[in-house]
Formats: sequence, C-alpha cells, structure tokens
Amino acid sequence: MEVKITFLLAASFLLLTSPDFTATVLGEEFSYYKLALQWPNSVCNVGVPCSKKPDEIKTDYQRFLIHGLWPFWPNNSALAPCPGNELTSSQVKGIKDSLKKYWPNLLRPDDFSFWKYEWATHGRCLGLEPSVYFNDAIELRTRYNDYIGLNDKGCRPSPNPYKRITIYNALYEALGEKHGQLKRNMRNGGYQLLEVYICFDRQKKVRDCPFRYTQCGDNDQVSVLYPTSNTVRPINGSKEIQG
Ligand SMILES: *[C@@H]1O[C@H](CO)[C@@H](O)[C@H](O)[C@H]1NC(C)=O
Repeated sequence: MEVKITFLLAASFLLLTSPDFTATVLGEEFSYYKLALQWPNSVCNVGVPCSKKPDEIKTDYQRFLIHGLWPFWPNNSALAPCPGNELTSSQVKGIKDSLKKYWPNLLRPDDFSFWKYEWATHGRCLGLEPSVYFNDAIELRTRYNDYIGLNDKGCRPSPNPYKRITIYNALYEALGEKHGQLKRNMRNGGYQLLEVYICFDRQKKVRDCPFRYTQCGDNDQVSVLYPTSNTVRPINGSKEIQG
C-alpha cells in the first residue's frame, strides 16, 4: 500500500514537472498536429448561409482562414472529442483581434462559438492553456502568407480549374517539399478546393501529412477549381448546392 502511494506520488510529481506535459494528457503520445485552413470563397459560393457579406469576403477575407489545429494519434485518427472545461471568452481576450482576422466563423455571426467548438473538439486534448493553444494556431498560420504560398508557385485563384495534382504540387513546393493535404467540396457539380492541411510534428516543425487528399481516392487528374472572389454571391441569388 505504502509502496503504491509512494509510486503514485512520484508518478504525479513527474507528470506535473515534465516539460513535455502534453505527452501525458491522455496517457499516450499524440503524434502530430494538422493545421486545417479553409478557402473562404469556396465556403461562401455554394449557397450555404455565409455569415459575412460577399463584399466583406472580397475585401477583408481573401486569405486562407483557420478551421482548426488538430492533434492526431500515430494511427492518423484525431484525438477528439476532448474532455474538459468549456472555453470562456476571457481566456482568448488577449488575441481576439488575431483570431477575428485569421479564425472567423464564416457560417455563423458569432466567431466565439467556432473557437469554443474547436477547443472542445480538438484543443483541450493537448492539456494546454487556451491562450497557448490559440496562440500556437495563429503562430503556425502566420508562418505563411495569405495564400500559403500557392500563388507564388503559379497556382492562383482562377475561373478555370486546375488538375488536382497541380494544386497539390504547388502546395508541396510552398511547404518546402513537404506533403500537405487537400480537401474539396462541390459547386455546380464540379470539385473546388475547400481546405488545405499542413502537418507539424510535436516541435511544430512542418512534416509530411499522411494522405494527399481527403476524398475521391488518389485520382490526381480530376479538375479542381481554386475559385476567385467573383464566385461569391449573395445567398438569395445563388442556385448552387453544396456537395
Ligand atoms: C488510434 O489510436 C488511438 C490511441 O491509441 C486509439 O484510441 C484509437 O482507437 C485508434 N483508432 C483506430 C481507428 O485504430
């Protein structure tokens, strides 16, 4: 009994003093982070209610926006959902401006509800203070420019679709020859680029993501639109359906 208690005390001491506290939170090591970034034009051109007006999207949000920063197990499943306390607005007060700029809620007027959801689903698994977690996400996002370097690699928003592999390769180059990941949605029966994922190891160094695409197998040749802001329409004038 006494041995057991001593052992438990020693174990909890180690836990509390470990510089890498995150590793012990769920008793097992997470493997890597995935930074999920969404292309606002693709969120707001498919007829779902968008919380920002088309003019706002065109002028204030022409950049890849954060969807989330997600920890993953080595077997590539996400650590989610996570037990713990709900996020409160005072916990992110200090970085609200950055969050509003890089992590707005395109689907509801209330930005905070998005952060709260992401914290509950992914963030609090890491055992970090909310301010640290959200700061990390902003820091990782702002390592890249508005277009995550895609535009610099000749892949700009365009009325004409790209072959999916062209976008994938541009991202690979932009990440310093690391494999990212692409996610699409549907517009007018065709594919368009909805999200880009960048993977980081536990030290937040960019690393390869495990898969190229999140849907449609490995077909590199399918056409994918990387839409311009001209496709963003007021909801009432839109006849598009989301896939
Ligand atoms: C992946 O690993 C985690 C942690 O070991 C485990 O809880 C989960 O069930 C695994 N998922 C799959 C699909 O194997």
